Amino acid sequence: MGEDFVHQPVLQREALSALTGGNGRRFLDGTLGGGGDTAALLAAIPEAEVLGIDRDPSALRAASERLEPYGERFHAWHGTFSQLEQALDEHGWPMVDGVLLDIGVSSPQIDTPERGFSFRFDAPLDMRMDPSTGATAAELLNTLSAEELADIFWKFGEERFSRPIARAIVARRQQRPWERTKELAELLERVIGHSHQHGLPPPTRVFQALRIAVNHELEELTAALKAAERRLVPGGRLVVISFHSLEDRIVKQFFQHAALSCVCPPGMPCTCHKQVTFRILTRKPVMASPEELSANSRSACAKLRCAERSSAPSEWLTGS
Ligand SMILES: C[S@@+](CC[C@H](N)C(=O)[O-])C[C@H]1O[C@@H](n2cnc3c(N)ncnc32)[C@H](O)[C@@H]1O
Repeated sequence: MGEDFVHQPVLQREALSALTGGNGRRFLDGTLGGGGDTAALLAAIPEAEVLGIDRDPSALRAASERLEPYGERFHAWHGTFSQLEQALDEHGWPMVDGVLLDIGVSSPQIDTPERGFSFRFDAPLDMRMDPSTGATAAELLNTLSAEELADIFWKFGEERFSRPIARAIVARRQQRPWERTKELAELLERVIGHSHQHGLPPPTRVFQALRIAVNHELEELTAALKAAERRLVPGGRLVVISFHSLEDRIVKQFFQHAALSCVCPPGMPCTCHKQVTFRILTRKPVMASPEELSANSRSACAKLRCAERSSAPSEWLTGS
């Protein structure tokens, strides 16, 4: 693997045992990153084959190099995990035995200054995981209304000062357009003051919110969960590792709904014909062990949830 692409996977042992507990050999890794999880899977199960997706071309390059020794057992696909059905169709796999989503950003994305994810460096305000497509963070800051920006900061960052920040961003762009991370970080420090919110440096929440908006992260996740439901074999496993509460809530609610056999109002005769599409295997999310926590601080916020597909047809029609 390229030495410049180093990502330490989180909850790897737990993810692999959850993913492979249902047996099978065809797996989809929707967040290939540096290929660490896929490498461990291919090494552990000699008959396993993996289709790996990432929207970041530099991750795909690094992972493909690292996984070259596995030959035909590994294939890379460039795109988003919400497009996993297109990836499977192009690869000739109608169904899979397991889907892994280790969502969020990789360490190389955060730590490469020019990608613009971090307020620790001065760089263009980009934040796209796939730099070849979509609007950058600067484009959002320069075009959205104050109300739209405040909504993003509040919904995706729970930023208490979302409205004054949005107003200050719009006022400042009348003089010159937004371009650099440092300029935004300085404005956030001015508006929020140096009052750390829950111990976080002032720019943290707005940078997180912008990243989520730029990459449509929550829409991606919802679409991928539904697509996985359509494409997992009975007994197949869906494993999701998330790093913030908004994502974890989406996964938890999706699994809870899938595990219900009826959604009719209580006390009424059942007319809904709902079927159980997943059995939840993690009542509570799996978190990092003390050993992993002390070795990798990034694992502190990670939550893993896993569910097993039933044989009932998927509730979600393509595109729903
Ligand atoms: C936390 S890293 C995964 C690390 C990986 N498990 C490993 O072992 O190296 C997340 C990766 O998912 C990718 N990613 C995030 N959202 C995505 C999406 N919607 N579609 C495809 N890839 C995505 C990112 O580009 C990043 O490379």
